[in-house]
Amino acid sequence: MSIPTPRPLHPSLGAEICGLDLRETLSAEDRAAVAAALAEHIVLVFRDQTFTPGEYLAACSQLGTPMAQHYSQHNMPDQPMIGRIWHRNGQLPAERWHTDHTNRERPPKATILYGVEIPPQGGDTSFANMRAAYAGLDSEEQERLAGLKTVNGLDRHLTDTRSEDWEKYDIPAVHPVVRTHPDHGSRALYFHITKARCIEGMTPEDTQTLLQDLLDRTIRDSNVYRHSWRQGDMVVCDNRAAMHRAHGDYDRRHPRTLWRIILEGDRPV
Ligand SMILES: [Fe+2]
Repeated sequence: MSIPTPRPLHPSLGAEICGLDLRETLSAEDRAAVAAALAEHIVLVFRDQTFTPGEYLAACSQLGTPMAQHYSQHNMPDQPMIGRIWHRNGQLPAERWHTDHTNRERPPKATILYGVEIPPQGGDTSFANMRAAYAGLDSEEQERLAGLKTVNGLDRHLTDTRSEDWEKYDIPAVHPVVRTHPDHGSRALYFHITKARCIEGMTPEDTQTLLQDLLDRTIRDSNVYRHSWRQGDMVVCDNRAAMHRAHGDYDRRHPRTLWRIILEGDRPV
């Protein structure tokens, strides 16, 4: 088997791969091809997948090593490496631009979402090319940002976080605002605005102002791929080069369920 050629979905990022059933075993060569395609396209959409939770975990394990997710109240009771994204347990859509789990010393290299129940309208997920965002800044600002580091912890605005997760996962993690992709060699802006307590040497207030201004100036239609979900889509997002956000613009009378798995990553440099 070889991987079908990815078809770009947007000029800046995102490509779809059709005709590949990820329940089948990928060869080492295929896995390397997927990793290279992910580093290049930043977001890969595998269409028409059909998974049980166990099959989904096995499929994702072909792309990396799944890691535990810190908001454990959302994890599947009998398959705890899978987090459920759905509103019927009181979850709010994460509508601000972010990258996942920056409170971890080695944050996930990829976030994988599988579309299980999709509302008839709305509920998209958007992905921003933060490599392009960084490249669009002038060299003086690039240099200045490259010297900054965020100090990260769990989101303080979320009220349903379990006490054991606070203990395990709210240990300050320090990451560069600009990181270099270990496979691709390119640089990208890297932070999670609501997990960043502060930038080292700055107040929390000045940190929020600086990070929000960066998002406002660098994320625009030309570097955003907005994914309209189809049932059976498996979307892999390269967290080393992308940010993402949810769109909560759907009718809550309809179910919307995504299964999330995150893959172990390197310490950002
Ligand atoms: Fe997220």
